[in-house]
Amino acid sequence: MSETLERWGSKRAFILAISGAAVGLGNIWRFPYVAGENGGAAFLLIYVAFVLLLGIPVMMAEILIGRAGRRGPLQALGTLAAEAGASKHWRWLGLFGAFTVFCILSFYSVVSGWSIEFLVASINGQFNGATAAEIGAGFDAFLASPGLLIFNHSLFLFMTMTVVAAGVAKGLERLNNLLMPLLYVLLLLLAGYAATTEGFSTALMWLFLPSFEAITPTVVLHAMGHAFFTLAVGACALMAYGAYMPEEQSLPKAAFAVAVLDISVALLAGIAIFSVVFAQGMDPAEGPGLMFVTLPIAFSELPGGAFWLSVFFLLLLLATWTSAINLAEPMVATLQGLGLRRSMATAIIALSVWLMGLLSAFSFSTLAEFQPLFGRNIFELVSSIPPDIFLPLGGLMIATFAAWIMPQKRVMKALGAGESGYLLWRNIVRWVSIPLTFIVLLGGLL
Ligand code: TRP
Repeated sequence: MSETLERWGSKRAFILAISGAAVGLGNIWRFPYVAGENGGAAFLLIYVAFVLLLGIPVMMAEILIGRAGRRGPLQALGTLAAEAGASKHWRWLGLFGAFTVFCILSFYSVVSGWSIEFLVASINGQFNGATAAEIGAGFDAFLASPGLLIFNHSLFLFMTMTVVAAGVAKGLERLNNLLMPLLYVLLLLLAGYAATTEGFSTALMWLFLPSFEAITPTVVLHAMGHAFFTLAVGACALMAYGAYMPEEQSLPKAAFAVAVLDISVALLAGIAIFSVVFAQGMDPAEGPGLMFVTLPIAFSELPGGAFWLSVFFLLLLLATWTSAINLAEPMVATLQGLGLRRSMATAIIALSVWLMGLLSAFSFSTLAEFQPLFGRNIFELVSSIPPDIFLPLGGLMIATFAAWIMPQKRVMKALGAGESGYLLWRNIVRWVSIPLTFIVLLGGLL
């Protein structure tokens, strides 16, 4: 575990590492389709409010636990709880987090597989001259082929777990940090192009003019879940990063910077995608295929579109890869903490996630009608319950641990924002983040 004692070279490197975990499918794929299903602007408004009121403060709580504990989630929580004279059962929060990321990675890997398929298809020029209807039909046919979905899911999971097993995630992060700005510029260009289309003004109204009757307890619950999901908060997956922070770095500043980057990536993707949706007369609530159908259409209208579409999917895949590594790492660390060798732990996690992912892959064909709970099939369940329920629940406990249980001095030092910064953070977490998460969870569940 000597590696955990190493520090990031600079403050910037720390922010970029967290961004690698945060920016992924959540921003470019999940945000547009969940917003599309939940009233657009009403969803966006509440989600941004939740990022500010819950996401950022709880992200700070999660990272500061790692910064103070300097170990994997189980040990960090165990040591800090013992030190505070609290129950050592707080450790099991680490296990709950591992279970949450297990469910999430199982569908995340399948959807990342779609990006691999689309990358190959765009390199092969399969979208050249295709109409919107053809692209839509092609995607439906793809979803109906479990063999293809499983092949790509296997490939993606293999890519992810090899990096985890070799422990070279930092190398990949460095690459990602180089390429993430490129992804950002590409999205900027795409949003710029969207501004020239006839769907643009409708898209802006849809995204930024909330109609308040669209706000229901379910919309609020989805918005909260997405705030946690997109920031990678609530599953103890960011704890390890705290251990690498430079001594003098301020956590609030870093968390805020990550959140701004994360939201702006989602907004750019949303503007581009919904402009196509409205220009083509498509349905914003069309579901998980939204990005995969709209962006090939958008790019095909641009000069050199096929080339840029390939570049886009390549960059997306890379952003997704670093997120998936962040999802896998805490599971491996937890098994290691229970005494397994790293290679063994990685193999067990890889196999279990792969098997679980098969259920998601089959949810678009053979198992589409297999709806064990709430009339939802497995893909619909694992892509909604863990983000919407488990992450807020985990976040609630993480926040409680940091703001109520840990010794104040410890927290203040790990936060790196002085005494007034600490008191502000603690008041927000104690009196806003924790009660709000609790109320929204309760409201959504009832
Ligand atoms: N935030 C990532 C995305 O938007 C997904 C993710 C990575 C995540 N690590 C996580 C979600 C930990 C929850 C917990 O794509």
